[in-house]
Amino acid sequence: MQIKHILAGFGILMIGLIACSEALYTPTLEKAGSTEHLNSLLEGRKLYVNSCGSCHSLHRLDEYNSVEWQKNVDRMQRKAKINDSQKQLILEYLNSK
Ligand code: HEC
Repeated sequence: MQIKHILAGFGILMIGLIACSEALYTPTLEKAGSTEHLNSLLEGRKLYVNSCGSCHSLHRLDEYNSVEWQKNVDRMQRKAKINDSQKQLILEYLNSK
C-alpha cells in the first residue's frame, strides 16, 4: 500500500469525524448567559450523547419543539435508565438551541 493512499484514507476519516462532531449542537457561553448555566447545558449534552445514542442515532435538536421533546424524553426515560434530574438536564439542553 502506498503512503498517499494511507494519507487519503486518513483525510476522509478526519472529514467524517469533523462532520459528525459538528452535527450535534454545542451550547456557547454567549447563548447560556452564565458559566453555571453553560455547565448544566454541557452536562445535559453529555447525558444526551451517552444515554440516547445507543439504540438509534441521535435526533437533531430542531426535529422537535419543547412539547414534543418532553413527550419523547418521558417515553425514553425507562429505556435510557436515567433518573428525573438527569432527564431535566437533557431536556434543558434539548431546548437550549
Ligand atoms: C434501549 C434503547 C433506547 C434508548 C436508550 C433510547 N431510545 Fe429512543 N427510541 C428507541 C426505540 C426502539 C424507538 C422507536 C420506537 C418508539 O418510538 O418507541 C425510539 C424512538 C425515539 C424517538 C422518535 C419518536 C418518534 O415519535 O418518532 C426519539 C425522539 C427518541 N427515541 C429519543 C430518545 C432520547 C432523547 C433518548 C435518551 C433519553 C432515547 N431515545 C434513548 C429506543 C431507545
